[in-house]
Amino acid sequence: MFVSVVSVVLLLAILWMIAVRLCGHKPDTQSQEDAKASNKPETTFPKFLQFFFKRLHSSPSPSLPGPPSFPFLGNMLDLTRDHLPIHLTALAQRYGNIYRLKCGSTTMVILNSSELIREALIKKWSDFAGRPHSYTGDIVSGGGRSISLGDYSEEWKAHRRVIHGALQRCTSDSLHTVIERQARRLSQVLRDYKETTVDLSEDFTVAASNVITTLTFGKSYDKSSEELQKLQTCLNEIVSLWGSPWISALDSFPLLRKLPNPTFSRLLKEVDRRDELIGKHIEEFKKSDCEEGGTLTSSLLQCQETPQGAAKQQMTLTDTHVHMTTVDLLIGGTETTAALLNWTVAFILHRPEVQNKVYEEQRAVLGVRYPQYSDRHRLPYLCAMINEILRLRPVAPLAVPHRAVRNSSIAGYFIPKNTIIIPNLFGAHHDPEVWKDPYSFRPERFLKDGGGSIRALIPFGGGARLCLGEAVAKMEMFLFTAYLLRDFQFLPASKEEPLPDLRGVASVVLKVKPYTVIARSREQ
Ligand code: HEM
Repeated sequence: MFVSVVSVVLLLAILWMIAVRLCGHKPDTQSQEDAKASNKPETTFPKFLQFFFKRLHSSPSPSLPGPPSFPFLGNMLDLTRDHLPIHLTALAQRYGNIYRLKCGSTTMVILNSSELIREALIKKWSDFAGRPHSYTGDIVSGGGRSISLGDYSEEWKAHRRVIHGALQRCTSDSLHTVIERQARRLSQVLRDYKETTVDLSEDFTVAASNVITTLTFGKSYDKSSEELQKLQTCLNEIVSLWGSPWISALDSFPLLRKLPNPTFSRLLKEVDRRDELIGKHIEEFKKSDCEEGGTLTSSLLQCQETPQGAAKQQMTLTDTHVHMTTVDLLIGGTETTAALLNWTVAFILHRPEVQNKVYEEQRAVLGVRYPQYSDRHRLPYLCAMINEILRLRPVAPLAVPHRAVRNSSIAGYFIPKNTIIIPNLFGAHHDPEVWKDPYSFRPERFLKDGGGSIRALIPFGGGARLCLGEAVAKMEMFLFTAYLLRDFQFLPASKEEPLPDLRGVASVVLKVKPYTVIARSREQ
């Protein structure tokens, strides 16, 4: 009798917990504390029930929609499609704004609207702040010690806090001057082209890269500098090789690691080269400038020696942390900003009246003087244009993949621990439910009563993993575009050549295909 009562009670307890779990126990209003509490059964119930629930949660809710997947390959064919952000956005038309894709034994959940992305990244930030553990990710990130690829941990949080603090100090002390100097230098480079037909992409990369190298090492370079070219080529190679399906396949199918893979060998070689180049820079910096202070590297090195800030958070910055921070800032801060400047010129070639409006606005508000970042509230059309470019071409279109660090839910769907979350920022920025005429370039939508939603604009992601360089990038975009459009009128290379292709090429960064342009000085 006693045994059967115990069995019934146990059975009811199990059923009750299944119901609670499967119904998502108020998923949509779940706070971060609730989310933490949702893990309670794993710690307060007996071991055999924990085991039962772990088994139950090892696969996502079966009701999460998604395209059919092949045995073994899963949806690998979808994931290797040309221009993945556009393909994922098209899948959302069929399966809805949240769906799943499989890759080997890994489940990915794709989020295609800003509401869903905000729910995961901001509202439930502590549930989704992880990064996927991956074999190749470890190789490119110094064993997970970079900010961008490091997993969410006490060590990572302390590391990010230190860098964030150092960046904030740089931003308030010297960033404006550093960007202004580069913007003037860029204007001079364009003037020197004397209205010849040119591809400006390399000049934009040099300008953006110089902002970061000045912040980190107090050094800037000319386009012809061999040192800069070596570093840029190597970092770009790593980003593009790492984005290649030949490399991602190694993460999902470990057996492939046993086979020869020339792409992987190239990646290893470039990572070694990168480490040698950055290592040399840091060593040179330690010998020379370190005493002067004022740069990010000197802040980090100070933290190593006298870890006031870091010690409070119980972590010591190792040499690998300092090294990987430099890599993070150079990779995160160069191609993104440069790509955005390239997109800006490409779009205004398609709608030349936009550049004239930006120019007229500056003349009307500032006269002949160059803008300061503090002028931005008085230049609404320029800001609207920048927002519209960020909306149409978020340069990190799929952000960086997140990982669920515990069981949670999104839009009422149960999301098990370790699921990979892909925020499709490109899709969110083209969501027809939010944006009228989402594919057309209309800066006016971001003017007063234009209907554009700043809340739905999320080019920098959000929450614990919000782009670390957001403040730097915003000031750069404002000052670089303001200077360029104040000083030049951009004209198509010739009447015969087609205007730049606006579809772009998507890898980790969404870039415009190479094109040429004429920069005509406004001073004549
Ligand atoms: C227009 C320019 C930029 C855009 C649109 C952009 C966008 C993004 C996005 C979407 C992420 C991923 C957020 C996530 O995982 O949810 C990110 C991460 C990051 N960005 Fe940026 N970024 C830009 C410029 C910069 C600059 C200038 C820097 C450095 C100064 C930078 C450094 C980083 C770093 C270090 C991360 C990793 C943050 C983390 O994992 O905690 N970015 N960025």
